Amino acid sequence: MEDKKIIIAIDGYSSTGKSTVAKQLAKALGYIYVDTGAMYRAITLYAMRKGYIDESQFEQEKLEKALPEIQIKFEINPKSGLAEVLLDGENVEREIRTLAVSNQVSKIAAVSAVRKKLVEQQNQMGKDKGIVMDGRDIGTVVFPNAELKLFMTATAKDRAERRFLELKERGEDVTYEDVLKNVVDRDHIDSTRKDSPLRQASDAVKIDNSNLTLEDQFKQILGLAKATIKKA
Ligand code: DC
Repeated sequence: MEDKKIIIAIDGYSSTGKSTVAKQLAKALGYIYVDTGAMYRAITLYAMRKGYIDESQFEQEKLEKALPEIQIKFEINPKSGLAEVLLDGENVEREIRTLAVSNQVSKIAAVSAVRKKLVEQQNQMGKDKGIVMDGRDIGTVVFPNAELKLFMTATAKDRAERRFLELKERGEDVTYEDVLKNVVDRDHIDSTRKDSPLRQASDAVKIDNSNLTLEDQFKQILGLAKATIKKA
């Protein structure tokens, strides 16, 4: 008999390696991977390009008005086999990962109208199951009935170090202090906002990967996923 397909929800603090493990898991299981952070980042990029948001102001009403027209989609990069985000048809995968976008995204993600639009789209993407989705509210709001929920954490210092190296590798001119500040500020805004704050679902398995190698972490999580699929 063919295995039943399940939904795997991965939530947690910023830069905990959610997407790395989610991609590995989707590949091993033949599931679709959806990075919901990329969707919030793409809307943020839209707002920045239009001049609706910067460090000193946010014209929320203008963004809300434009929302129905903003199209967020994914396309598979044939080289990597991974989904990349399209903003109104333009591939913005690289641009959404800059520190400039990271510095604004939590303000955009706190807007209920933005969340409503994206959560509806995420629900649609998961309707046939066989999906690994990562974000901040997947196990609590998007798929409260997901068969497997993981909640990833690590110390802010460990996370900032990883993100700093990643940005440097991509050639961004950033300091470790700026990256650490972004990680700490985003955690604060993401977990204290009114709508769908970041929190661990009561039935989520907590994974603290401060002292875990990527390999050990993946083994542990793949084991959990396989056991859950067996029971489904
Ligand atoms: O996972 P990420 O760092 O790319 O996410 C970017 C921001 O988007 C993060 O600071 C909070 C927000 N986000 C959210 O509010 N809900 C999600 N499901 C995913 C991301």
